[in-house]
Amino acid sequence: MKIAVAKGDGIGPEIMAAVLKIFDANRVPLEYEYVDMGKWVFDKGFSNGMTPESQHTIEELGLLFKGPMETPKGKGVKSVNVTARKTWNTYANKRVFQTLHGVDTVFSKAGIPIDITIVRENIEDTYGGIEHMPTHDVALSRRFITRPGSLQVIKYAFEMAKKKGTKRITCGHKANIMKLTDGLFLDCFNEVAKEYPDIKADDVIVDDLCMKLVTRPDTFDVVVLTNLQGDIVSDLCAGLVGGLGFAPSANIGDHISIFEAVHGTAPDIAGKNIANPTALLLSGIAMLRHLGLMENAAIIENALLFTLESGVHTGDFGDKNIPSVNTTKFADTIIENFGKTPEHGARPLLPNMPVTPTLFKLDQNAMMVSKEMQNEKIIGVDMFIASSEQPEYIAKKCQRHAGVKFKLVSISNRGTQVWPTGSVYTNLVNEYNVRFESIDGELNQQDVIGLYVSLSGDFKICSLELLNMWGDKKAYSLAQGQ
Ligand code: NAI
Repeated sequence: MKIAVAKGDGIGPEIMAAVLKIFDANRVPLEYEYVDMGKWVFDKGFSNGMTPESQHTIEELGLLFKGPMETPKGKGVKSVNVTARKTWNTYANKRVFQTLHGVDTVFSKAGIPIDITIVRENIEDTYGGIEHMPTHDVALSRRFITRPGSLQVIKYAFEMAKKKGTKRITCGHKANIMKLTDGLFLDCFNEVAKEYPDIKADDVIVDDLCMKLVTRPDTFDVVVLTNLQGDIVSDLCAGLVGGLGFAPSANIGDHISIFEAVHGTAPDIAGKNIANPTALLLSGIAMLRHLGLMENAAIIENALLFTLESGVHTGDFGDKNIPSVNTTKFADTIIENFGKTPEHGARPLLPNMPVTPTLFKLDQNAMMVSKEMQNEKIIGVDMFIASSEQPEYIAKKCQRHAGVKFKLVSISNRGTQVWPTGSVYTNLVNEYNVRFESIDGELNQQDVIGLYVSLSGDFKICSLELLNMWGDKKAYSLAQGQ
């Protein structure tokens, strides 16, 4: 089996060399094709941080093992790490956080075991990075939560939980506030849960989840979240087990998967041969299991656990009374410990069952539509306008433009209604949402354009959103206080 390997920037090449040395010493049956990605590729003028040849190789091989990569600051380029995850639709980000004996934390000292898997949606949410500034004072981000995207990651989480023999799967969300976006994610979770009656499925509001994770981490098993919340919660979980040096990450897609550590390029210690390769090694071990190389994975993981238990450590963790070792020595000690069994959490030696990657070729983009629209109608429009006038004054002007088709129903500012009712104690910014609804039922797009043209005589219209009804369901939110 051949996989693509990108060494990465900063400490990337050092920790990748350490991990591949361990793999080679264990005769892992993999061939590596090195690909060009990262900072120096940006510097050469490739704006997405990878060469076309690298992209081709990864798409051919279907699996990328990568070191951390730096995103050049202030050059307007996007992170190659995020580009890779999104371009290849690695929709599920799986991060496993387990108590590691030899890595002291408040929980390990208190004898509280941790074994939490976070499955984070990896493509959508605010990570689309679709942002605009309608006025100098206002920056907006579009948050995409889609039904097909949510179903993909949630189905993956349940399937993984079933294979792992998990008892509980929890959805973290903020559907009490973001009723349509997080509400959609939660609906998808409840829908998929029905197909897995043997797994206890529950949901927790994300702030409560954070509190519970730091007070009773041992009660959680698999947690599935949207992208940004999942990013934050998974770093919190990394802290529970000893920090980013112990946090592996698998980005799973149907065609291409990417295995990497959660941490970055650690520029402060790069080139010193002192970085901790554990997180990348744990990611590599997860990759071996993904490829069915169970025996290699178990021998290497047992050797790693044995090494940690014996007190061998790099400078970033462990008993300060025991001198730390460098990256090379840490890797060599793991190699010396092949065949040894750790006292805690020894992995069973299962035979290798190599999995051939599903390398289906795509000649066009897959369109994911989960439901056809039915009984869809437009009943109004939100016009987002730039103005620093008072709501009453704006209302008077807007009513003149409403004509015979529309009525002005509300004006809100930062999501809080300020007209027809509101409070003078609500502070305003210079972008309003002016909501018009149809006087007698359905509208078409020409009606909306007519209103746009008329209103543009008085205001700069920054953007508009149609108010859709799906049957008797409002496909839009109400303003606070509306
Ligand atoms: P970082 O994770 O690189 O470093 C944070 C702190 O943790 C530093 O003190 C560092 O020395 C330490 N650290 C991290 N990994 C370590 C290891 N294996 N062994 C010992 N100590 C370790 O985060 P930072 O400084 O925010 O980001 C640096 C660069 O990395 C940025 O350019 C960022 O864009 C990139 N980055 C890349 C990621 C990826 O490739 N997936 C993920 C996160 C950041």
